[in-house]
Order: sequence, then C-alpha cells, then structure tokens
Amino acid sequence: MARLSASILTADFRRLGDQVREALQAGVDWLHVDVMDGHFVPNITIGPLVPAALRPVVDEFSRAKIDVHLMIENPERYLQDFAGAGADLITVHVETCRHLHRVVQMIHDLDVQAGVCLNPATPAVALQEILPDVDLVLVMSVNPGFGRQSFIAGSTEKVARLRRMLDDIGSNAWLSVDGGVKPHNAAEIVGAGADVLVAGSAIFNKEVSVVEAVAALRGALARD
Ligand code: DX5
Ligand code: ZN
Repeated sequence: MARLSASILTADFRRLGDQVREALQAGVDWLHVDVMDGHFVPNITIGPLVPAALRPVVDEFSRAKIDVHLMIENPERYLQDFAGAGADLITVHVETCRHLHRVVQMIHDLDVQAGVCLNPATPAVALQEILPDVDLVLVMSVNPGFGRQSFIAGSTEKVARLRRMLDDIGSNAWLSVDGGVKPHNAAEIVGAGADVLVAGSAIFNKEVSVVEAVAALRGALARD
C-alpha cells in the first residue's frame, strides 16, 4: 500500500496541531513540510520552528515521519536546523545543489534520511549517479511554489522512468510524487511505480473534512 504524506501548506495554521493530529488519526503516514525561501521559488513559507512544534504531535503516531521538502537556495546552510527540528527525511532539489553528492552526505551525517527532488523540466537522468545514495526520490508534478495547482500530465511517465532506474540498481528508495495529487489520479501515479503520494489540498481543504479526504484517497487506491 502506498504511503500518504500530508502537505500542511493548505492546512488551517490557526489550528495546525489539531489538523495534523486529525490527518494522522485518519491514516496519513507522513507529514510533508514545504519550506520555501522566496528565491528558488516565488513563495515564502515555513522555517524549522514549525516542524519542531509539530514533532510532539507526530510522536503520538509510531509510523509517522516528518518529511521536509526544501525549496530553498543553498539548502546546505539549513540542514542542521531542520535535523534539529526533528526531520526524519530531508529532501533537496537537484537544481539548488552544485554539489549534490556532498549535500546528501551532509544529510546522512546528521542521521537523517536523504531525498532528492526534480522540477518538472529537469530530466530523470539528472539523478542517475546519485540514486544509489538516496533514501527518497521526489518527483515534482507541479512547478514548486504553491499548493492547489494541477498535476502536469507527463509526470506519470517520469515516475515510471524513475521506477525503472531504481529497480535497475536494486534500490529500495521511496519514489514520491508531489503536486496536484487527487483521488482521480492517485491510482494511476501509484500504478506507474510511486510508493509515496504527497497530498496538500486533497487533504486540507474547505470542502470536505480531513477524515473524508483521506478516506477518498485511500479508497481511490484500494479500488485499483
Ligand atoms: C509545491 C509543494 C507541494 C504542494 C502540494 O511546491 O511542494 O507539496 O504544496 O499541494 P497540492 O497537493 O495542493 O498540490
Ligand atoms: Zn512539497
């Protein structure tokens, strides 16, 4: 069964702790924290204070992980802060790292699992050499910067390509997909080989409760 990582970007920040507990109680596996700096992406969001504040809530659920997605320039400057804030996984963009291998090593030296992420226009082969060293590959299926965008269609093929690349080297790394994931496309993305789905507005929105939203995603996966 694919894991669900709930992006808090569209959650109600006035009651973030409650929203996160609700999502984890509803069966979400991980919590996805979108960190944006106003440079690599046009938006500014969350610093290490937020995962640090949520860590005790996440600890109420033994399976849960804090999955930090750094959409920032020079991510190496902030790895220690996010590790200290309780991140289980830190994912950096290949487009922001001149020395990606070194950054992955730095994350591992902090005893945190390391992920690498690709923008929609960055080819899968950009990860070829680093794949044996990573714990997670994150495929952006929207241009990073905002929640509530539409899934870019070609992303499913890219997921399939990365699945083959990971299988070819016998890697157990998670293959995660981020952006525009909804009940109507979840099964297709998992069918292409993803084993983690990041979902923001599909889980935290004004239309349905978090419990209903998680059930809809799980239901879509179960029907496949
Ligand atoms: C986009 C972020 C995503 C996004 C997910 O830059 O990395 O995690 O907020 O939100 P939805 O699921 O609404 O596309
Ligand atoms: Zn993200």
